[in-house]
Amino acid sequence: MVVQLDVNDPVEFRRVLARYATGVVVVSACANGVDHAMTANSLTSVSLRPPLVLVCVDRRARFHEAIMQAGSWAVSILGGKSRDAASWFATRGRPLRGQFAGYATSRGGLSGALMLDDALGRMECDTEAVHPGGDHTIVVGRVRSLDLLDSDGGSSPPLIYYRHGFRSPATE
Ligand SMILES: Cc1cc2nc3c(=O)[nH]c(=O)nc-3n(C[C@H](O)[C@H](O)[C@H](O)COP(=O)(O)O)c2cc1C
Repeated sequence: MVVQLDVNDPVEFRRVLARYATGVVVVSACANGVDHAMTANSLTSVSLRPPLVLVCVDRRARFHEAIMQAGSWAVSILGGKSRDAASWFATRGRPLRGQFAGYATSRGGLSGALMLDDALGRMECDTEAVHPGGDHTIVVGRVRSLDLLDSDGGSSPPLIYYRHGFRSPATE
């Protein structure tokens, strides 16, 4: 059975997109001395040489102004145990100051952004290009540093966003 949905209805658009499973990251930046962060599943690898990634940032999100101002930012790739962080950094209107309290973090030496220590991998990026993308902005980052976090020997399951919910598949 095929159900055709209305492309002009954002709810129906999201119903189909929800069948595309993605990983989950927290993107972060320090702008004017304030630490900002946001849960995102739009992270995509763009290029290996040079190393580029992109993230799509909602123009209405507070993080939008922060990433534009900062010019450098960080990505923390979440593992299966980080549902709590994923939900928290997606909560609209959460207090900006102190939003990292309760999470172990390290400050990136290049970006100045706070990164989560309980991540599977981390990157620091300098903004290389910015493109309009409807109600989002496509921010392309040149990757400047890479961290692989292997506290349990590299067998941690990832955090997956699928059908509007967080999941963590058992790894093989
Ligand atoms: C799983 C998941 C993925 C998300 N991915 C993105 C994304 O890629 N880009 C984006 O702008 N917002 C994304 N969001 C929404 C933001 O996390 C959310 O709008 C933002 O944290 C709101 O914070 P603010 O009140 O500071 O604007 C996502 C939310 C969830 C739950």
